[in-house]
Amino acid sequence: MRVVSGIQPTGKPHLGNYLGAIVNYVKLQDEAVAAGGECFIFLADLHAISQPHDPAELTRNTREMVATLVACGVDPAKTVLFNQAQVPAHAELQWLLNGTARMGWLNRMTQWKDKAGKNREGQSVALFTYPVLQAADVLLYQATHVPVGEDQKQHLELARDIAQKFNNDFCAEDAPLFTLPEPYIPPTAARIMSLRDGSAKMSKSDPSEMSRISLSDDPDTVMKKIRKARTDPEPLPSEEKGLNGRAEAINLIGIYTALTGKSTAEVLGEYGGQGFGAFKPALGEVLVETLRPINARFTELKDDSEALDAILARGAAQARESGGATLDAAYRALGL
Ligand code: ADP
Ligand code: NA
Repeated sequence: MRVVSGIQPTGKPHLGNYLGAIVNYVKLQDEAVAAGGECFIFLADLHAISQPHDPAELTRNTREMVATLVACGVDPAKTVLFNQAQVPAHAELQWLLNGTARMGWLNRMTQWKDKAGKNREGQSVALFTYPVLQAADVLLYQATHVPVGEDQKQHLELARDIAQKFNNDFCAEDAPLFTLPEPYIPPTAARIMSLRDGSAKMSKSDPSEMSRISLSDDPDTVMKKIRKARTDPEPLPSEEKGLNGRAEAINLIGIYTALTGKSTAEVLGEYGGQGFGAFKPALGEVLVETLRPINARFTELKDDSEALDAILARGAAQARESGGATLDAAYRALGL
């Protein structure tokens, strides 16, 4: 079992990152260790330069993201925790895979279409080839499990297509080089929506702070954002089918069930027939209690740049060692 995933050190991580991805980093890290496997979690700083960025801010965000991940339970003693930029094999393997990836495959990526919008000509080449770097990120370590949110499913399928074509084109049939990675998408909370718009995903790039719960939000801010979260005027239904077509209610209940482990039926049993005025404070409390220990730990860690840099340096050394054999084999397979 080899677990591999990454998160961009751009801006403050939010509840969508936490429930869609980080919680599963921790879960799979422990499963991998128990199974004698390995877990690699990296900060996707090479991905972060695909869009306009401020270099000093990127350095700061990278350290903060390490502190956040550790505060959430990613344990550098169990997980190889590092940043891509210190492991040149990611960029090298991407270049090798650029020979295999097809323009048509990348053109179909919905994230590229969303991020580029109408201005494709003005985007960086990196934004377009971003999914090939993602493929390199996981194939380099022969990933079996890739914990990601729903929005990354298409990119994972692309990584499988690239791996399969490379294996077909350049490897003997009985000796494929790359393992085909499987996405590990949580059964609930795979797509947390904006608190202001039930049809948009919660994202770091949304200009409105009110649209997301940041992991660093203090209790008053959390309670306020939940109180102001958009809802419809109907009371909560007492049965699940009454949630049909009610995106905001589904989202808030989904967050609650993901954090408490309760089922939707249990929650509706408790709050069905009542307005959001009763449910929202309960949800706010659960969030505050979830974030309290994370924030306490983050505050302890965040200013110790030396310790954070040491975690990254150690992780990078391990990652360079782990990915070396696959990178060498890829060069050889291509006749390089
Ligand atoms: P963002 O999209 O906020 O910039 P990243 O691209 O760095 O975040 O994604 C980091 C991880 O968080 C990925 O696995 C992604 O699928 C997951 N993720 C991001 N937003 C959400 C969301 N709203 N709900 C669930 N998972 C999410
Ligand atoms: Na994303």
